[in-house]
Amino acid sequence: MPEDRRTVLKVLSGVLGTGCAAAIGVPVLGALTAPAVRVTVKGARGFVPVLALEALPLDGTPVGIPVVVEAPEDAWSRLPPTEVGAVYLRRLPGEQGILAFTTVCPHLGCRIDYQPSRQHFVCPCHESVFGLDGQVTSGPSPRGMDDLGTRVVGGQIEVEFMRFKTGTARKVEV
Ligand code: FES
Repeated sequence: MPEDRRTVLKVLSGVLGTGCAAAIGVPVLGALTAPAVRVTVKGARGFVPVLALEALPLDGTPVGIPVVVEAPEDAWSRLPPTEVGAVYLRRLPGEQGILAFTTVCPHLGCRIDYQPSRQHFVCPCHESVFGLDGQVTSGPSPRGMDDLGTRVVGGQIEVEFMRFKTGTARKVEV
């Protein structure tokens, strides 16, 4: 009989031990692995305030502006404000609104410059040239400059920042 009792106690302590380990281990394991399967870096997409509306020239001259995301959040840490890209902004005549282009060349991804003396955009890598409307006028770029959505909130211009595949004739978000 004492032998039976010992066996029952052994089984009971085994069951209890396994239950305790699962109760502690499962939440800890979940907390450690959840960030790895979540979408990380928030704030690098979507509308980002870039410039006060009154600072954009009325005559349509493009202005290059960095896109800085306030306190982007990674699943593991909180980062300081970070530059995630840059855009050119242009005011359109009358009430037509604001044009925004990324500075990334659709050919192979170099940064496009604005040349005020010629009033056009040029990519220095392979000399793609773009008009003020973003259309390609010469060079190997397979499409025009990638435009972005804009809106004005509380006197601030916001752009819908996103990235696109390079080397394709069609604009495809990545
Ligand atoms: S990367 Fe701009 S022309 Fe090639």
